[in-house]
Amino acid sequence: MSAPGNSAKGAKLFKTRCEQCHTVEAGGANKTGPSLHGLFGRKSGQVEGYAYTDANKQKGVEWNEQTLFEYLENPKKYIPGTKMAFGGLKKAGDRNDLITYLKESTA
Ligand code: HEC
Repeated sequence: MSAPGNSAKGAKLFKTRCEQCHTVEAGGANKTGPSLHGLFGRKSGQVEGYAYTDANKQKGVEWNEQTLFEYLENPKKYIPGTKMAFGGLKKAGDRNDLITYLKESTA
């Protein structure tokens, strides 16, 4: 990822593609997927009280712009064995916008 994306577009993408399974705000609940609050700078698989797959826990990457950019293109390729049922955002511009939004909303 290069220049910051458009966070308003990212918010829209989050609403339609992620929100049914994830929250971003402080104290947000774990849903089908773990809360994404505090995501940046955290290692994969660390949210208290969420039952991750071993694949997600053992990936051991730090979530940041670069790792999320790769992960969100094709989650099942980046973490083989993940239970996240999401096909991926194929457009680099969409990922860029979404990551810009996530950086603001999960902080
Ligand atoms: C159908 C539900 C679903 C959708 C839609 C979904 N996710 Fe997930 N997500 C999950 C699940 C379940 C996991 C846990 C995976 C595991 O343990 O293998 C997860 C894991 C993650 C993780 C890793 C978190 C960590 O703490 O390691 C990130 C980041 C993430 N999702 C972001 C997103 C984003 C951004 C979107 C929208 C583009 C999205 N997800 C869409 C269910 C979903």
